[in-house]
Amino acid sequence: MTTLPDDAADHGAATGPPRHPRHLTVVERTPDLRARAAELRELKARLRAGSAAPTDAQHAKGKLTAYERLDLLFDDDTFTEIEPLRRHRCTSFGMDARHVPGDGVVVGWGEVHGRPVFAYAHDFRVFGGSLGEAHAEKIHKVMDLALTTGAPLVALSDGAGARIQEGVTALAGYGGIFRRNAAASGVIPQISVILGPCAGGAAYSPALTDFVFMVRGTSQMFVTGPDVVQTVTGEVIDHDGLGGADVHGDRSGVATFVCDDEKSCLDDVRYLLSLLPANNREEPPAVAVTDPADRRTDRLLDIVPVDTARAYDVREVVAEIVDDGEVLEVQESWARNIVCALARIDGHVVGVVANQPASMAGTVDIDASDKAARFVQTCDAFSIPLVTLLDVPGFLPGTDQEHGGIIRHGAKLLYAYCTATVPRVQLILRKAYGGAYIVLDSRSIGADLSFAWPTNEIAVMGAEGAVNVIHRRAVAASADPDATRASLVADYRAELMNPMHAAERGLVDDVIDPADTRRVLARSLAMLRAKHRPQPVRKHGNAPV
Ligand code: HXC
Repeated sequence: MTTLPDDAADHGAATGPPRHPRHLTVVERTPDLRARAAELRELKARLRAGSAAPTDAQHAKGKLTAYERLDLLFDDDTFTEIEPLRRHRCTSFGMDARHVPGDGVVVGWGEVHGRPVFAYAHDFRVFGGSLGEAHAEKIHKVMDLALTTGAPLVALSDGAGARIQEGVTALAGYGGIFRRNAAASGVIPQISVILGPCAGGAAYSPALTDFVFMVRGTSQMFVTGPDVVQTVTGEVIDHDGLGGADVHGDRSGVATFVCDDEKSCLDDVRYLLSLLPANNREEPPAVAVTDPADRRTDRLLDIVPVDTARAYDVREVVAEIVDDGEVLEVQESWARNIVCALARIDGHVVGVVANQPASMAGTVDIDASDKAARFVQTCDAFSIPLVTLLDVPGFLPGTDQEHGGIIRHGAKLLYAYCTATVPRVQLILRKAYGGAYIVLDSRSIGADLSFAWPTNEIAVMGAEGAVNVIHRRAVAASADPDATRASLVADYRAELMNPMHAAERGLVDDVIDPADTRRVLARSLAMLRAKHRPQPVRKHGNAPV
């Protein structure tokens, strides 16, 4: 190491005018700085590589390390790490002998498709990625930066939850994350990517974010792990059975996206980010497209059967309408009776909500209400216009649904639509009955525009049901009840079961040729881009939960 000159020489006491001390020391320090910089580079390379055994163990489980994941998430050579040298201050349980720099989490920012994004990635190789005081404060810092600079936050989660050795300070660390998750909600997009076991607090933070990705065979989320489950309830279950990707993708609805491997998962995260604005003050990025906005959608005439009893896959309808047939469906395997997807029309991002006649005849049940309500709310928060495609026989009837609180859950969907201020266009594909018609963005709850196809049935209920209610006595008293009922059903159909009744009353804005659907939607959305609806002054609404 270079020895600094002594004070006397430094201050030029002997001869000449006084010199600024920095001038002299800079020249003298240079060789030392180079050596120090080399040492620092070596240290950071060592931190990044980590110890061999835990790295091998991580790879043996088919998992990448935190740094390898960040490399896949960000554009090449754009990630800037902060606090790689941070260490914990815990001295209990032998922790004073285990001060790993970085403390088990990598935080910083980089670019995704050339746009700034913040991220933190748990490093499972260090204390199982568990969260202690220093670890939490690093995450807090990067969350604060994301919020104050207005850029998305991505959490790459692979951790054991609260670090047991650090006790209540670890729990407080989670509190700080939850509080920031809530503060950032609706301001910046927050994406959680589950890439390992996420227990306790590590599971609750993702639940507060906008999108949750999971990877089959790799990620699990649970509030309490299998050991605790067995101790408390006696139930024996493994990690995947309790909270694996398919459990949360198919059954609980906690996972928004389920992927087959980490690489494709992080590619999907990058794609999702390309559809989202940086924050709630910006519009989602628009792109130039080659798919003409006025392309005729003739295929729709073949996809949607006129017979209302026949099923079809509404995803084919969505693909026909949007740019290049490209959609990103959320919660694809959960509540399949409603489809929610992000896509583009004429280069601009839209959120599509569509009843799925291929599943439960497209009825709306508790899970479908929750799924669509969340999606509508997310789109509204991030300035994504909504296109709602209806083919719905109504809410699912039954004791299970009523006792499960369909009123409360359906109200969430109703509330989400009623309060959404983004451009909203409703299109009825075939049938739209009763409450479900009203709830799914009818003009009466605030859709900006509503369109129908010529074969639509828009009514309080289907013809048979309606006749049984309003003509029960007349049918019973007639000499030929079956013939009377059939005649009354035909009358009802002619009178009410068509789009003209709604069009004549201004409840749909036009009845259109299905082949013009894409053109009409593109023009409507272009016009509505200038929409401005002031917000009511209040603290916040009291949304049903
Ligand atoms: C400190 C922990 C830890 C923890 C694991 N480790 N969990 N260290 N605090 N919570 C350490 C292990 O000692 C081990 O260290 C290393 O991490 C890897 O753990 P393994 O068990 O060997 O790995 P694996 O078999 O893959 O199992 C991973 C696991 C399991 C599923 C996460 O470790 C586990 O169930 N841990 C407990 C999870 C938990 O209950 N967390 C608290 C949740 S409560 P060495 O040194 O041997 O490598 C919570 C409160 C928040 O989070 C509440 C918010 C509402």
